[in-house]
Amino acid sequence: MLDRGTTPHERTEAPLAEIVSAAMLLHAVSALLELGVVERLKEGPRDLRELALGSGAHEERLLAVLRPVAAAGLVHESAPGTFELTPAGRHLRRDDPLGLRDLFRMCTHGDFFQAWTRLARSVESGRTAFELQTGSDLFLYLAERPEEAELFHRAMNASAPADVLLEAADLSGARVVADLGGGEGATIAAVLRACPASTGVLFDLPDVVAGAGPLLRREQVADRCDVVAGDFFDGVPDGADVYVMARVLQNWPPEEAVRILRNVRAAMSGTSRLLVVGHLSESTRPSPFVEAIGLSMFVLYGAVSRTSEQYEALFAEAGLALSRTHRVRDGESVMDVRRA
Ligand SMILES: C[S@@+](CC[C@H](N)C(=O)[O-])C[C@H]1O[C@@H](n2cnc3c(N)ncnc32)[C@H](O)[C@@H]1O
Repeated sequence: MLDRGTTPHERTEAPLAEIVSAAMLLHAVSALLELGVVERLKEGPRDLRELALGSGAHEERLLAVLRPVAAAGLVHESAPGTFELTPAGRHLRRDDPLGLRDLFRMCTHGDFFQAWTRLARSVESGRTAFELQTGSDLFLYLAERPEEAELFHRAMNASAPADVLLEAADLSGARVVADLGGGEGATIAAVLRACPASTGVLFDLPDVVAGAGPLLRREQVADRCDVVAGDFFDGVPDGADVYVMARVLQNWPPEEAVRILRNVRAAMSGTSRLLVVGHLSESTRPSPFVEAIGLSMFVLYGAVSRTSEQYEALFAEAGLALSRTHRVRDGESVMDVRRA
């Protein structure tokens, strides 16, 4: 029996109740995005009637969705029947600089979302949950599905960890910076803007770099960036003094990660650096956010999240040595790696 005097956070079931609520709230937030309510709240407080009219919804039914999202702290009922986005809710706007909206949209869309329902079968079978859902490896799937590829790359571009990289490493003296698995170029573009004397190489799969032009031109770095299509399991371009792999190694199980690293080592000169940007698990103080991101790597790619010591062992297998780990924020780190 519950003691009526206990607050929700003292109850033993509170963590489980939070997880159950989060699962439900995820759909409420998705619905507000799909109905265009978040964009309508972008300019400031709006009346429920106006919101309902704008999204073609019934007022009471819209209120049923707004209320729990308000209780969760993403919108605020500033006056009876008037709603506005809270500072946390503003991250759901299309122009959010952290890119959380685009990540949210990708994670809640079609196969990206359904793959999670295959988690138990994935643990039993050893196949990735994404493969069990779609019959295909994620990157092959994206090559054939333009709509999902657009969602994926938009989420990657919007949340690219260029600020983490630039905060941890001074790249101003770098002559050539190569971004391996650099997607459509959000990270290399930010590096080149911060380092006007450097040139860049953007390396990724052919169908991915085919979409890089608009971003590189918009960021006005296209004339300083070579775009190279390839497969890092076959080899990577040589001649760079800094190699970057941002949120790439964490996608791959150990055997594949070592194969990629051996190819990077073969391209590195004695003075090149490899900067590995990504989420690192901490065995002593695991963060729920980082562990959840780690789990998404398992669902999408079959990789289990690693600590910096576990990365160190992979680097050593590939003839590389970890010289320093910069922990930046939210569990995202930059590992500075040299040839052993
Ligand atoms: C999780 S995304 C990270 C993208 C980008 N570095 C970022 O931080 O936003 C992984 C990237 O690895 C690329 N990739 C996957 N397999 C690859 C391969 N075999 N060769 C080269 N790039 C590959 C994907 O196309 C994708 O752009």
